[in-house]
Formats: sequence, C-alpha cells, structure tokens
Amino acid sequence: MHDDVEKVLFTPEQIAARVSELADDIERDYAGEEVLLVGILKGAFVLMADLARALFLAEGTVRPRFDFMAVSSYGSATRSSGVVRILKDLDGDIADRHVLLVEDILDSGLTLQYLVRNLRARKPASLAVLTMLSKPEPMKPDVEVYEGFHIPDVFVVGYGLDYAQRYRDLPYIGVLREEVYGRS
Ligand code: IMP
Ligand code: MG
Repeated sequence: MHDDVEKVLFTPEQIAARVSELADDIERDYAGEEVLLVGILKGAFVLMADLARALFLAEGTVRPRFDFMAVSSYGSATRSSGVVRILKDLDGDIADRHVLLVEDILDSGLTLQYLVRNLRARKPASLAVLTMLSKPEPMKPDVEVYEGFHIPDVFVVGYGLDYAQRYRDLPYIGVLREEVYGRS
C-alpha cells in the first residue's frame, strides 16, 4: 500500500467485480441501442477503459461509443464550488443519442448538476449518469444514476481519482491520510 494511504476501501478485485455488474446493468437497460459514454476527465479515465472492456466481455447488444469532456470546478483542492468551466467539450453532436455521463465520484453533486443541465440543453434522446463512487447525500441530478459504491465522507484517491494530480495510478481506492492534504 502507498504510504500516504490510510486504508484501502476497495481492492482491484472488488472494483473489477462491481464494474462488470455495472456493465450488465447497462446491457440490460440499453439492449440493442447505441450508447455514447461521456467520460469526465480526468478522474473517469480509468473507469471508462474498464467499462469499455467489461461491456465487450458482456457480449451483449449494446453498441458503446466514447467521448470525453474535461471540466474544472473552482474550489479548494478537496472541495468543489459548483462553478464549472468546460476545458474540453464533446467532439460530436449528441442530439437524439443515448448519453451516459461517466464520473469518478459524486461529492456535493454540483459538478454533475451543471453537466446534466448543460447536456440536456443539447437534446439527447436520453441522459443518465454512472458514477463509481458517491458520498453521503450528494445533491442527485434528476436523472437515473448508476452507482458503483457508496462511501463515507472521506477523501479518497486511486482508480483515476487524484489529490493535486497524484495517486490516479493506484489500482485500488483508498482513503488519503489527512496529513497529506493538510501539508500543502
Ligand atoms: P462535486 O462537484 O462536489 O460533486 O465534486 C466532484 C468532483 O470533485 C469529482 O469529479 C472529483 O474530481 C472531485 N472529488 C470530490 N471528492 C473527491 C475525493 O474524495 N477524492 C478525489 N476527488 C474528489
Ligand atoms: Mg479531481
């Protein structure tokens, strides 16, 4: 385990098993459809790759397509403010397409609320959200949300999640030691 990590919440095996269940949920709900998975950079990049492979391995009828957005939300290093700036927009048009927003974590829910409003204005055929993690009682956007795991109100890193751009490469999801974010 990394020295800066206090505790592992989810092992690589637990994550893989859950991602495969989420892929099954997508297969069930979008059977026969083309679905555009929109990964929110950078946090969701690891999940997007794993979801892509899990969907392929599920051998279903969903035809996944992939696009990405990059956003930055103003705020401190560990809290977002809900004021979101789009750094990279989608490459393509989403009108009349089934769109599934893929996020790393729902904390306050402010980032997602902004994104749901923004994408809904582009008139997709449907819009839903998949998040690997959610903290207690985030503001839920008024769309269907597929959730990987519920976690307590702790700051986690790994599996794409960072603190100051570090720890994204950890293969597990762990709680960052408080001394680490107190330090900088
Ligand atoms: P929200 O707008 O408060 O829901 O914050 C969402 C964004 O804040 C996520 O996409 C992450 O980039 C970041 N974030 C929130 N909680 C954590 C955490 O525990 N670890 C790492 N990043 C987090
Ligand atoms: Mg982040």
